[in-house]
Amino acid sequence: MDNKINELLNAQINHEFYSAYLYLAMSTYFSEINMDGFANYMKKQAKEELEHAQRIYDYLLLRNEKINYKRIEAPETDWVNPQDVLDGALEHEKSVTAQINEIYKTAKELNDFATENFLKWFVEEQLEEEEKFRNLKDKIKAFDECSCTIEAIDRELDKDGE
Ligand code: FEO
Repeated sequence: MDNKINELLNAQINHEFYSAYLYLAMSTYFSEINMDGFANYMKKQAKEELEHAQRIYDYLLLRNEKINYKRIEAPETDWVNPQDVLDGALEHEKSVTAQINEIYKTAKELNDFATENFLKWFVEEQLEEEEKFRNLKDKIKAFDECSCTIEAIDRELDKDGE
């Protein structure tokens, strides 16, 4: 594997762990304001991010590649309301999509067909990741007018976790 691809994949493991950290912090925010449905939802997102990191880690091992451990940044936690948290989550997912696209582009340029193929799952996954936060944001748009809306969504999330 080209060094550049190795570096980008190792960096992506770190980005995925950071995503888990960020979503756990968002879960804490919701717990503290007693929105348990949203708190559970974000905790599940954090777990998914750990799985993403694991998937890349496993791929590097499969290719007999070096794993580099890097410091995980602490997330900013100055959200002012639930809408702000979800805006942050969507923006974050867009940045992850850009990171995945960059690795995909590099793999293509360097004729690393195995990595290109491996990343197809992530390209697909990012569509879903952005969509779920966009949907949730749309759902709570009415929050400013009626707090009953967000309470109902919170109960709904608590029930099915999605
Ligand atoms: Fe691993 Fe939510 O992107």
